[in-house]
Amino acid sequence: MLVNAAPLLLLLAADSTSANVLKRASGFAARHTKSLARDLRLAFGGVLPRSDAQQVIYCKNSAAALSDSSGSGSTGLGSGSGSSGSGSAGGKSSSTATGSAAGATASSAWHLTQSYSGSTFFDGFSFWNTADPTHGVVDYLDQSDGEAAGLVEINSAGNAVMRVETTPTVASVRKSIRITTLQSFTGGLVIMDAVHMPTGCGTWPAFWSNGPDWPTGGEIDIVEGVNNYTDNQATIHTAPGCSLTSDDPATLGASASVVTGGTDCAAATSGNAGCGMRSPSNVSFGAPFNDNGGGVYAMKWDSSGISVYFFERNSVPTDIENGAPQPTSWGLPMANWPAADCNPWTYFYTHVAIFDTTLCGDWAGSVWTGTGVPGQDQSCATRTGFSTCDAFVAASGASFAEAYWEVKSLKFYNTTAAL
Ligand SMILES: *[C@@H]1O[C@H](CO)[C@@H](O)[C@H](O)[C@H]1NC(C)=O
Ligand SMILES: *[C@@H]1O[C@H](CO)[C@@H](O)[C@H](O)[C@H]1NC(C)=O
Ligand SMILES: *[C@@H]1O[C@H](CO)[C@@H](O)[C@H](O)[C@H]1NC(C)=O
Repeated sequence: MLVNAAPLLLLLAADSTSANVLKRASGFAARHTKSLARDLRLAFGGVLPRSDAQQVIYCKNSAAALSDSSGSGSTGLGSGSGSSGSGSAGGKSSSTATGSAAGATASSAWHLTQSYSGSTFFDGFSFWNTADPTHGVVDYLDQSDGEAAGLVEINSAGNAVMRVETTPTVASVRKSIRITTLQSFTGGLVIMDAVHMPTGCGTWPAFWSNGPDWPTGGEIDIVEGVNNYTDNQATIHTAPGCSLTSDDPATLGASASVVTGGTDCAAATSGNAGCGMRSPSNVSFGAPFNDNGGGVYAMKWDSSGISVYFFERNSVPTDIENGAPQPTSWGLPMANWPAADCNPWTYFYTHVAIFDTTLCGDWAGSVWTGTGVPGQDQSCATRTGFSTCDAFVAASGASFAEAYWEVKSLKFYNTTAAL
């Protein structure tokens, strides 16, 4: 598993013209030592058949995340990474709250609380510029270095782009981007619209959220996968005591299948695998997602539990497009972790959202020779001719031309009704 995310604020003024109200939010990650992660990987690799080993998920957070959250107070990971822009972003969020108050209508109980899009998209984030907690071969850049390297931009369509370095050969690591929202949230509705996501052998992108003191504050992986995967996997990672009531999707109220063995969500007792659910949609992740024009992911976190919805580009509900989301009209979520066996307020709190793209590391690197997951009928070792992920990354810059996020918007909504 992995984690990451991003938001926007000032666009609220534009959104308020629709006379709608909007709100919401959510997220997570985990902490473990490098040696623990390696031990777990070895343990799973030795015990599980190959196809199951591919389904092991690794937590995105680690030592760096822990030190971050310990110093950031209510804003979570964001302030720990030292962004120079955090002050102004706080001001923006205040203005959005003002806008939303006037726009409530009966059409949706949800009102916008934070919006990240357009030219100010990155103002609401801090840039992670220390080591990757998940041991990928990346060099995460701060905002100014990222812009100078051409890896961070708002493109002509007004979308936020985060790329990976495509220099033909590098010694070991490639430059990449990982961003964290400055604002945190505990419950709500998060809606992320992307037209492109990173894909290809060696990549491990994620859009996720996490709380403090991983895994105590919980982690919610909304969009995550590796290599050539085509079916998204959403996962939660928690402190001990949170589980799924069943591994039957019909019982859970979800369209996704439960990843093998994934009913104990505790990081400590599940080998960091958590409770993962794999989408039945082969356009929910990777190259097919991009070829299809991307889509919208929504994560709802309230007293009923935590749910993730996916809408492919030509099926985005009009209530989302109109900024007046009505989750009760969306039908079955892709993933659902009911409150019954996992209290959503006990195991999750004070999340920040994160977008990242790492390379190899705990997940993409460990399944380099694996097959048996949708999109991965052939292993990346076979496909690329490189026996290790790290060697492929060092020698194959052109292969990372598709390893970029292009995000239209990230919006948080809340409700005046009880969460
Ligand atoms: C929604 O409101 C609750 C209660 O004030 C707050 O804890 C939470 O962070 C809010 N979520 C969002 C997304 O604004
Ligand atoms: C799989 O990954 C390889 C290496 O990045 C890439 O060349 C290829 O296009 C990918 N295939 C699909 C179907 O995504
Ligand atoms: C993707 O799924 C659809 C059904 O939803 C199916 O018709 C199609 O063959 C699948 N494509 C691949 C490449 O598996």
